[in-house]
Amino acid sequence: MFSQEQINKFKNTPTPFYYYDIDLLKRTLIEIKKAAPKEYSIHYALKANSNPKLLQIIKEAGFGADCVSGNEVKRAIEIGFQSNHIVFAGVGKSDVEINYALNNNIFCFNVESTAELIVIDELAKTQNKIAKVALRINPNVDAHTHKYITTGLEENKFGINPYEFDTVIDLIKKLSHIQLIGLHFHIGSQIGTLTPFKNLCLRVNEINNWFIEKGYLLPHINVGGGLGINYHEPDKESIVDFESFFNVFKQFLELKPSQSVHFELGRAFIGQCGSLISRVLYIKNGINTNFAILDAGMTDLIRPALYQAYHKIENISNTASQTIKYDVVGPICESSDCFGKAVSLSETKRGDLIAIRSAGAYGEVMSSSYNLRDITKSVFSVD
Ligand code: LLP
Repeated sequence: MFSQEQINKFKNTPTPFYYYDIDLLKRTLIEIKKAAPKEYSIHYALKANSNPKLLQIIKEAGFGADCVSGNEVKRAIEIGFQSNHIVFAGVGKSDVEINYALNNNIFCFNVESTAELIVIDELAKTQNKIAKVALRINPNVDAHTHKYITTGLEENKFGINPYEFDTVIDLIKKLSHIQLIGLHFHIGSQIGTLTPFKNLCLRVNEINNWFIEKGYLLPHINVGGGLGINYHEPDKESIVDFESFFNVFKQFLELKPSQSVHFELGRAFIGQCGSLISRVLYIKNGINTNFAILDAGMTDLIRPALYQAYHKIENISNTASQTIKYDVVGPICESSDCFGKAVSLSETKRGDLIAIRSAGAYGEVMSSSYNLRDITKSVFSVD
């Protein structure tokens, strides 16, 4: 929902652009702090949105950083996240990236394979450092989400499978520049119910106990991210029910008193505070419905094209209650460049402003310059 003042501001701003509601972001951060038990460490997953202005606010609120590339580690450090609050995951870390993270003494590498353990050990030895690592485990828990963003099944490329545990432990005993400090899990993203998280907890308990029996009582258990947001009703549920989410872990995770819990949430932090704002370029007749052709396309927001993701679309220039159905599309030379089919909008004409809601996570960061398009700009409610 946008105020008249905001809409007037949009009228004078070249489109398309991402609009971020800073007040909503701040309120979301407060809710996370309120809902999470004090002893939980929450890392914000930069991959969801690494816009420096937003990162600054998240850092100031006292969260850690979860990174998946050397450049994300660099961005987190530049913004001022303390290096001992930075975790670094990813199935294919390059030597340059590992060296950079070692150099900056990050808190922990989430390691995804035996091959990677060996390389980190070698590089740490060269730097005369001990690399702190957590093993990313593939727990084989179904997140029941889109298959492109499911990560915790045996068929996925992520993590170390339970049948490799003995080999990994034997290897770790031989590596002199690795310190095993934790276990890491992440089963997928945009998880819409709490059941997969309960199943994850039960699996973590089993795996944690297996390691304890082998003599490894590891201080850090990282359960990843994945909490979904309500794309259908962004105004009704602008802030996720964090209390119920953390309650699942309080209730079902059975850790030893010396073990601490870490989370890596991205979408739930930032998803609802961003909208992609664009203008209608043309209305064109179609066979079934008319097309509303926007000046924003899949280069600005790829989620509908890539995951058939739903985003609520609103005509904010004309809010009359009577609606007509439009296929809302972008200007890119691909038929997948479609934000929504048969979308009910109030009568729409050239020049109208269209808001594509819940685009704060995996929107701006996934934009591209395909077709030599301009990179999407961002505007903040506090500018
Ligand atoms: N930790 C790890 C190891 C991850 O791979 C991810 C997301 C997260 C944490 C944060 O997950 P979140 O809380 O944001 O669900 N581009 C896709 C989402 C890809 C998620 C990748 N990994 C989308 O637009 O839906």
